[in-house]
Amino acid sequence: MKKTKLSHSEYQVRPAKIIRTRMMTQSEKYFEIALSEGDSLEHDPGQFVMVSIPKVGEAPISISSSPTKRGAFELVVRKAGRLTGALHGLEEGDALGIRGPFGKGFPVQILEGNDLIFVAGGLGLVPLRSLINFVIDNRRDFGKVTILLGCKTPKDLLFSDELDGWSKRLDLAFNCTVDKSDEDWKGNVGLITSLIPGVTLDTDRTFAVVVGPPVMYKFVLIELLKKNIPERQILVSLERHMKCGVGKCGHCQIQNYYCCQDGPVFTYEQIKGKKEAL
Ligand SMILES: Cc1cc2nc3c(=O)[nH]c(=O)nc-3n(C[C@H](O)[C@H](O)[C@H](O)COP(=O)(O)OP(=O)(O)OC[C@H]3O[C@@H](n4cnc5c(N)ncnc54)[C@H](O)[C@@H]3O)c2cc1C
Ligand code: FES
Repeated sequence: MKKTKLSHSEYQVRPAKIIRTRMMTQSEKYFEIALSEGDSLEHDPGQFVMVSIPKVGEAPISISSSPTKRGAFELVVRKAGRLTGALHGLEEGDALGIRGPFGKGFPVQILEGNDLIFVAGGLGLVPLRSLINFVIDNRRDFGKVTILLGCKTPKDLLFSDELDGWSKRLDLAFNCTVDKSDEDWKGNVGLITSLIPGVTLDTDRTFAVVVGPPVMYKFVLIELLKKNIPERQILVSLERHMKCGVGKCGHCQIQNYYCCQDGPVFTYEQIKGKKEAL
């Protein structure tokens, strides 16, 4: 597998500063971060960084902003344990460490000229947003774009202002559903899979990009395969426990792949039949 080029050591922790934060939901916090040297991160959509706090630890977090945003990048962190809990305690002006960007992101050059259907479940919107905004910023390079989004309740929606903007655009189709509604919700109620049958696709030229919790993949893949999208045109992004992020420790291994280096983005063709993958 080809290794992603890095302009700095993959072990080097680069000092960074938090420019802006806000709570997006009860458990997810948004961070806008700038590298202290003034460099741009120079990532591909779908890559991740290793975020560290001295004496606490390090964790892989997806880059949520598009590389078309210069000067700073964005992360969304769900409070899960030690490191993510400590990150939630940080505010504007606080320092943290960044390694990366790491991994293989979405194959933008292959996607160019084709139709795209994005399927995002819950926190899966975070890495997918980097590609969606890249596509929007380079809209003429892509064909028809459909975005399907699902989450548990309206309160779990991330980037709701931005979603509102996407839903008003005439150059993309946007549809959203929640598993459980509240009194203010006027949209769809039901699992994300319920949105797929209603979409018309030109399967020869459509790439599906799916990111969500492990339980979602199986059922979304069934629906996409029913639409006859070829397996090599279905892309997924996988999460694994990671330590080094650079293909050395083996923590993230899925048979012959290291998720940190060969992924996190894979085609369904690559991982089909690998029990530990999905
Ligand atoms: C490529 C990649 C991208 C990710 N992107 C994001 C992101 O954008 N935002 C975000 O909030 N999280 C993301 N994660 C998950 C995040 O890395 C974990 O939540 C984090 O490592 C937990 O660290 P901690 O020290 O806070 O928790 P710990 O104290 O280490 O563990 C707390 C709990 O979280 C579980 N856990 C630890 N790592 C993972 C993991 N990788 N997947 C599932 N459960 C885990 C542990 O088993 C334990 O139950 C990503 C993971 C990967 C591999
Ligand atoms: S995290 Fe060490 S090999 Fe992938």
